[in-house]
Order: sequence, then C-alpha cells, then structure tokens
Amino acid sequence: MEIDTAQVATVAVIGDVHLFWDDADVAFFNGSGYDLVLFVGDLAGYTQLRGRRVARLLRKLRVPAMCIPGNHDGLHAFQLGAEIAPRAHRLRNAFCQGQSRRCATLERALGDVELLGYSRRRIDPAGVPLNIVVGRPHSIGGRRLACLRYLAKRYGIDSMDASAARLKALVDGCDDAPIVFLAHNGPSGLGDRADSIWGCDFRKKEEDWGDRDLEEALRYAKSSGRTVLATVAGHMHRRTKSGKTRPAQITHDGVLYVNAAEVPRHRSENGQKKRHHVKLTLSPTSATAQDRWV
Ligand SMILES: [Fe+2]
Repeated sequence: MEIDTAQVATVAVIGDVHLFWDDADVAFFNGSGYDLVLFVGDLAGYTQLRGRRVARLLRKLRVPAMCIPGNHDGLHAFQLGAEIAPRAHRLRNAFCQGQSRRCATLERALGDVELLGYSRRRIDPAGVPLNIVVGRPHSIGGRRLACLRYLAKRYGIDSMDASAARLKALVDGCDDAPIVFLAHNGPSGLGDRADSIWGCDFRKKEEDWGDRDLEEALRYAKSSGRTVLATVAGHMHRRTKSGKTRPAQITHDGVLYVNAAEVPRHRSENGQKKRHHVKLTLSPTSATAQDRWV
C-alpha cells in the first residue's frame, strides 16, 4: 500500500467521563475540527440513569465517535459493588442478569456514537488509514475478568486466555494500515508501582493493574510486523489514592500509551470551567499526544 506520510489526523481522546459532560462539551467538539473522538469508557457514575443522560448528550456529537464501555457502564450499583468487593464473588454472576438489556439501552441512548467491545473498525480520518482495535469491554483491571457471565453470553469469552485470543484474532483481521488500540484499562507490562501508568493504587501491595490480554495482543501485533501507533485507555485515574500523579503518556517499544483518565475532567480556573481531553495527532507512521484544557 502506498502511504502518504504527509497526512495527519487529529483525534480527541476523552478519559473517564464519570458524568462530567454537558452541552458546552458537545459544542466544543462539534466545532473543534477533530476527525474522530474516542471515549475510553466510564461515562456513568454509580447509577445507569445518570449515565444514560450523559449518553443522550453524546449523541448530539456530529464528529464520528466510538466508545468502549467501562466497568461503570451497563452495571448497576450492586453489580459494580460485587465486582469490586473481594468477598462478593458469589454475587457477581447473578448480577450479570440484565446487563445485556442495560448495555442495549445505553447503546440506543448513544445514537451514532458507536459502543464497541472486541471490535475492529477500518477508517480513514483525514485520509490517514487506521485500524481501530477495540479491546475487552467493562474491564476492571487486574487478573480477573469483570462481568464474566455477560462476557461469556455476549462475546463467548470465558477466560483471560480466551480474551487474549479474541484480541489477537482482531489483529489478524487488520489490513496493513497502522493500528490504534482503544481500551478501558491499559495493558500490563508498563510498571508495577502504585503510580505507574496502570499501577494498582488501592491495595497495600503495589502491583501492575494492567490487562494481560491487551498486553499479549500488543506484543502479538508487534511481532506480526504490524505498526501500532498508539494505545489509548483510562480507568486508573491519573491522580492516585495517595495523591501522586501517574504519567499521562509513555512511549514503550515504539508505541505511544495514553492514560486519558483525568478525573474529574471539568475543573474551575479563575471562575471559568475548563474541560479536559487529549489531542492525539496521528500520521501513518507516528503518534503524539497532548493534554488540552479548553
Ligand atoms: Fe473504570
């Protein structure tokens, strides 16, 4: 394939929204000239009702947009609690009941904003050929798959290995255009400290909280000779529980990793509301990211 390296696409990456989204956000992105908007998930807080309100605002976007559901999207509060609490494992499968319906409702509310998991989209924003590979939906990080019964029912995924295999199959389905991975949580292998880009900050023991299936898929893509420009994700909020700040981006083995989870993404500066996103600039051979408060 002939590649025109002069082409540049700009992509807005929105970290965990957690309800911080309003009409002014819609107006900004509709007038911003971005070619694509990627949401890394967690639109909702602890109720699906308010999450759907955010989704109904997102549907007003006139820029092509994709969203991977996070662990707060399509889960009711008890289900989320059961997924988080170590001793509630017996309830987890039971609470998956109704998740298909909740996700379908969210999908309808989002309108043309695509809600995606285990998917690939071949697009050409601003003439830059791209494979967007969308990872495991509803990731909660760590070694365990969240929403296991739902993943099995909806996607036929019942283990971390099966998930890695599905992601590798998506890579196999890509043509020779470069790849951008969109995920809720980032991959493992990028640090095991509480303030690593996807490190665990909520347990005494500091550890790598990244997704192993995503790490495997990335390694597979690289070893298959694919160009992986970037991986964008969130979930592990940039500000850690102990008040430290994670890196917002790192480059590792030629891939740009962006943790877009600036939470809350609205803040007040001199009495004026500022809104966060990450500007991702992509050419067929390179990727750069820049934090923007607008
Ligand atoms: Fe999350």
